[in-house]
Formats: sequence, structure tokens, C-alpha cells
Amino acid sequence: MFIAAAAVFAQESLRDEAAKYGLLVGTAAGRAQLYSKNFCAVTAKNFSSLTPENELKMDYVARKQGAYNVKNPDTIIAWAEEHGIKVRGHTLVWHKAVPGWLQRSGWSKEQVHQFLKEYITTLVGMYKGRLYAWDVVNEAFEDNGRLREHSSFFQKTCGTEYIEKAFIWAHEAEPEARLFINDYDVEMMNPKSNGLYALVEKLLAQGVPIHGVGIQAHVTEEGALSFQALLANVRRFIDLGFEVQFTELDVRIKLATEEKLAHQAQIYRDFFRIALSLDKVTAITTWGTSDRDSWIPSAFPGYATALLFDALYAPKPAYDAVLDVLKAGPEKKLNFLFPGSGGTSLMLSRAMSALDYEFIPVN
Ligand code: XIL
Repeated sequence: MFIAAAAVFAQESLRDEAAKYGLLVGTAAGRAQLYSKNFCAVTAKNFSSLTPENELKMDYVARKQGAYNVKNPDTIIAWAEEHGIKVRGHTLVWHKAVPGWLQRSGWSKEQVHQFLKEYITTLVGMYKGRLYAWDVVNEAFEDNGRLREHSSFFQKTCGTEYIEKAFIWAHEAEPEARLFINDYDVEMMNPKSNGLYALVEKLLAQGVPIHGVGIQAHVTEEGALSFQALLANVRRFIDLGFEVQFTELDVRIKLATEEKLAHQAQIYRDFFRIALSLDKVTAITTWGTSDRDSWIPSAFPGYATALLFDALYAPKPAYDAVLDVLKAGPEKKLNFLFPGSGGTSLMLSRAMSALDYEFIPVN
């Protein structure tokens, strides 16, 4: 306890360093974490954005048909506000966290749309002026880049139309919030991020009120993350006119060693360099504050230690790496690797083929 508390007070602040350059540094947390003094101290000191981890998901809020269960999200949001932390809403429409009663409803497309409209209008309206962003649609894609035809209740019942409708309803309820589409395994160029690119380009052309692309960034320490490929992928969404956020960053490790923790720090460094250097990357959120509360050990058995703080809330090498990046400030050159917006796709496609990634042109 003493060591953890000492570490808390010795720390400098990620949020203060990042604020100098207009970048938000986020974390995710549930109601339960607010009972921990260490969680509250470390989080308030280091993070300027907070995503309720589960408490704004549909099976939580709409557990009972017709009722809105928002006591716990209210508490989390109020705590964040007291500490000058902005709040991201997560998430309105997702193939997971669909309440049982809705899955069993047997409703038609029209009935599901009617429910979604009421749900989104009510929930987003309830927090109007308080949440700066919403993940409107989460994980809409299969790994092959096609929309989830089999695994999504909404896609199956409503077809792709639910996506544009969800954005339109969210925007009507709260015109000030930045509205995101969010997904995992879209850090680099691959069939899934290509599918996402093609969809957001189409939505933009249709005038759908969508502002941002959320790259979850649940990655592994042993995985082959390429800094250049990550940068190029983020750049292509920015060049389309989107804001980008890393929304759920964690770097999971199988059997941590000093060497692996140092490599983890390097991966965190890469994400933060890009977030800090590109103006249109507006926030970078790690999926939790400490390894004590991370979802990783239960979701990926054998993996752990994915976050910036260990289970005693002491900063890890990754924390020091991130702090160094933030103190060093933005690197101008990262904005100019692929000059101009016109012709960027061609530049990207060249850069990508050089890196052995397949670039599938949209259209
Ligand atoms: C996870 C939470 O962290 C867990 O506590 C919960 O049991 C399952 O969901 N992508 C998302 C997040 O968009 O909502 C997920 O959060 C992690 C993967």
C-alpha cells in the first residue's frame, strides 16, 4: 500500500503533458473501481477522458424493456465531471450486449428501428451537453471486411440501414457530440480496415453525421505492429476528413519478462507518438487504468499486464515511455510523410505495397 501510494504521488501527469498539445488521454472504468482510492488518485491525476467500461452498453441500460437503468453510469459520469475529466459514451449499437428480451422479441425491421430510435434519442438526450463523444456503432465488421451478416442481431434484422439511422438519431439528440464508428483489428491496412474505410467514405458522401473513426487497438506484445503501417492507416482516415481516436488501447503480454515489458513500452510509445503528432487524432484511451482491473486476463486466458499501471497502481515502463513521448512534444514530420490530400491514396498504395500490405482501393 505504502509503495503504491508513494508511486502515485511521485508521478508526473500524462493528462497535463498531453493537454499542452490539445490531446486527451483516456481510460475506461466501471462503477466498482470508484471504490478504490488508488484508482481515483491515479486516474484523476493522469487521465482527461473516461469511458464507462460497460455501464452504457445496451444490455446494461435497457436490461428491462422500457426502463433506463442509468444509476451507475450517472455516478461514473458525475465523478469524472468533478475531476475535470471528459466522458466518452460507449456504445449505442453493438452486436454484443444486446438485451435478451430484444433478441427474443421477434420484431420486424420497422419495430427494431423504432426501438433504436427511441433508445438512442432517450439515452443520448439524457446526457446532452455532458458527453463529448459517442461510439455510435461498434464492431460492425467481420474480419474479412464484410458487415456482420450472421453475428449481428441488428445487421440481420435491419440490414446496413441501421448504421446510418443510428448516426442520424444520435446527431438529432445531441448535435454537439462527436460521433464515432469504432472497431478492433483495424490498426493497420487489412481487409477489415479497408471495409471500414469504404463504409465511412460512403457515409460521408451521403451526408450522414459521422465525425470520427475509433481504432480500438487491443494488441498483443508479440504481434507485428508496424509504426509506418499504423501511421499510414490513420492518415488515410484523416485524409478523408475524419477525426481519429485510439479508443481502447491495451498491449497484452503472455508471461511478462523485463524484455517483454520494454517491448510493450515501445508499442505504447508508437501509438502515443502518432496520437500526439497528428492534430486530427484527438484522444488516446487505454482500456483501464491498472492491470488489476483490466479485462484481458478473463477475455484472453494466458495474457495479462496490458496497461500502463501495474496491479498496485505503480507506473510500468510503458508509463515512462508515454510520459517521455508527451514531454518531447509532437513530431512535425509525421504530418508530412504522405504529402497533400489529393493523390494520397496512390502514395499510400505505393507505401503499402512496399510494406507488403494489400491496399484495396475503394469503389
Ligand atoms: C469489454 C469490457 O472491458 C469487459 O468488462 C466486458 O466483460 C466485455 O466488454 N471491445 C469493446 C469493449 O468495444 O466494450 C469491450 O469491453 C472490449 C472489446
